[in-house]
Amino acid sequence: MNEPVTVTVGLGERAYDIVIGQGLIERAGEEIATRLPGTRAAVVTDENVAAAHLDALQAGLGKGGVSAAVITLPPGEKTKSFSHLQDVVDGILAAKLERRDTVVAFGGGVVGDLAGFAAGITRRGMNFVQIPTSLLAQVDSSVGGKTGINSPRGKNLVGVFHQPKLVLADIEVLDTLPLREFRAGYAELAKYGLIDRPDLFSWLEKNWQAVFSGGPARITAIAEACRAKADVVARDEFEQGDRALLNLGHTFGHALEAATSYDGERLVHGEGVAIGMALAHRFSTRMNLASSDDASRVEAHLKAVGLPWRMADIPGDLPDAETLLNFITQDKKVSRGALTFILTHGVGKSFVARDVPASEVLSFLKENHPVRENQF
Ligand SMILES: NC(=O)c1ccc[n+]([C@@H]2O[C@H](COP(=O)([O-])OP(=O)(O)OC[C@H]3O[C@@H](n4cnc5c(N)ncnc54)[C@H](O)[C@@H]3O)[C@@H](O)[C@H]2O)c1
Ligand SMILES: [Zn+2]
Repeated sequence: MNEPVTVTVGLGERAYDIVIGQGLIERAGEEIATRLPGTRAAVVTDENVAAAHLDALQAGLGKGGVSAAVITLPPGEKTKSFSHLQDVVDGILAAKLERRDTVVAFGGGVVGDLAGFAAGITRRGMNFVQIPTSLLAQVDSSVGGKTGINSPRGKNLVGVFHQPKLVLADIEVLDTLPLREFRAGYAELAKYGLIDRPDLFSWLEKNWQAVFSGGPARITAIAEACRAKADVVARDEFEQGDRALLNLGHTFGHALEAATSYDGERLVHGEGVAIGMALAHRFSTRMNLASSDDASRVEAHLKAVGLPWRMADIPGDLPDAETLLNFITQDKKVSRGALTFILTHGVGKSFVARDVPASEVLSFLKENHPVRENQF
């Protein structure tokens, strides 16, 4: 077995460890009890994760002397709602847990965001531990303390910042993750390379197959992603500046998710981010900020791992370019009419670009729209 790697999120009094490795589910009780002595737990999970891994986690918690109530929710984005938040809070209170007890999120980003929010507001803030089980959650959502639910008016509109006390990323639980979800999480992993870690991106170009198969390369990649995210979070916990870089690919990506009505059959979040990152690089080329070779390199890598990289890869019809632009201008990263994008000077050289002209974006969307050929 490979040694686990520990990455620390440097937030002073609220600093915490992210442990990445194998066999961590078995050791979960011990890992939690050493950091939070005497704590009891409420494990929040979803049906898919429970079916595959809950017995192992309960055994692991028991071995470390951590007693646990379990709250199991239906899988899927719709679970990030007020009604399920109420179920989780009620489950925690029914188990008679107190502030020093611990809410354990055991699942993907949906469970992590919802359980973290419940931990943040129940008894004015309880201890919180993340045991992320999707690749997206291990490289992104479990780190940084953003928690919340969706409102009927939009995604992630209700929530709090509430940092975990510990993140345990067991790479072996990813073996049961559907390939499509693994790839979607991989897009967010590659994102850190494209933001400001060109060496990570080059390494992934050579080693992505090993990351997909598991073992030491997977630990290396996830640890590097967690380091990247931890750095940004430590610099800008509350997203006043730099943390926005993590939105690379997300402005185009969110517009495509909205344009496909958040229908996961057509497009899941990480796939939208993959296409969005390719578009952000191509658009940067169009704006004479980056070389076309860089955009081609990004496209080639996404294609190699089996991710969609252009709008034409989304099944079904897309709305026209004007409608896509409307989705972009409704996105929260618009301030006073100017469009803010994360653009790039090349692989690993992303930056926050304000005042991006909407007319340029519209022309670009028209040029890259899959029905372009039919318009002439
Ligand atoms: N808080 C943040 O900073 C942040 C960052 C990025 C994304 N998010 C949020 O994360 C959510 C997406 O997370 P996600 O992609 O993990 O989605 P998810 O939680 O819905 O998980 C994806 C699917 O995989 C299943 N699954 C998870 N782990 C599994 C495993 N080990 N074996 C088998 N099946 C498994 C789940 O049941 C689900 O069906 C979105 O709601 C997004 O808004 C939050
Ligand atoms: Zn994302």
